[in-house]
Amino acid sequence: MSTVYLNGRYLPKDGATISVEDRGFLLSDGIYEVTPAYRGRLFRMEHHMRRLQHGLDTLRIEFDPAAMPEMHTRLIAENALDTEEVAIVYLQITRGVAPRTHHFPPAGTQPTVYAFAQAFHRPEMARWEQGYEAITVPDERWARVDIKSIGLLPNVLAQQAAVEAGVADALLVREDVALEGSHNNLFAVLDGVVTTHPATQRILHGIAREYVMELAGAQGLPVEERPILLEEIRGAEEIFFTGTTTEIRPTVRLDGEPVGEGKVGPVAKALYEAFKEGTRA
Ligand SMILES: Cc1ncc(COP(=O)(O)O)c(C=O)c1O
Repeated sequence: MSTVYLNGRYLPKDGATISVEDRGFLLSDGIYEVTPAYRGRLFRMEHHMRRLQHGLDTLRIEFDPAAMPEMHTRLIAENALDTEEVAIVYLQITRGVAPRTHHFPPAGTQPTVYAFAQAFHRPEMARWEQGYEAITVPDERWARVDIKSIGLLPNVLAQQAAVEAGVADALLVREDVALEGSHNNLFAVLDGVVTTHPATQRILHGIAREYVMELAGAQGLPVEERPILLEEIRGAEEIFFTGTTTEIRPTVRLDGEPVGEGKVGPVAKALYEAFKEGTRA
């Protein structure tokens, strides 16, 4: 059985329990983070910690995450994931346990801190090269999706719509702007420019997104951060999603229509190779 982390202790998953009065359970009052480890090495941990701190500060959850990187490394070791090509650590911090109120619990209420680690399996290259399909779904989320809140109901419904449509990704659209996926960021190649939505409060500031922008820049590709109209995306040369558990996933059909030539494009291919190479280094 896997070993998980709960409030300072490492214990078997079955032995980890939380109160029914946890504010994460009752109110989705918490945040989470997902960090990848490549052959046991955490990747861009400081970026993940910065985003976590942004969430803690914005939601005013009092928790010092200084011990989190070491905890991540130990959890990977405890679960014998050091030799896995890719593993992920999921971390969740809620505002703690207290009788249910909408306002904050009494000062001094300890946050609940939970984490688990597991292997992540990349798709076979032959499968990846066939490309994937996506559908557009209205973005019905709240106005601060830059915070990695555990309140993910609209994301759940969007991804369920994708599953029911038999496709890999749900592209969230608000006011005719194609923002991001239900659990990943969106890129489009438009007239040769690698384009993605700016890091505003309308998208999650993906760590993979930032990494992919850097990789594209290093390859000499023009990169632009600007809102992408739905109308533009329908005429894109290439579309792909990025994320910790997505890495780079190319979309070859959107709402049943071919993207570009209906095949995985050269930009997505080159970036995926560079992505894997960079995580090996
Ligand atoms: C809505 C949303 N956008 C983007 C991402 C990608 O972020 P990252 O690259 O840090 O995994 C996620 C990841 O969970 C997400 O939930």
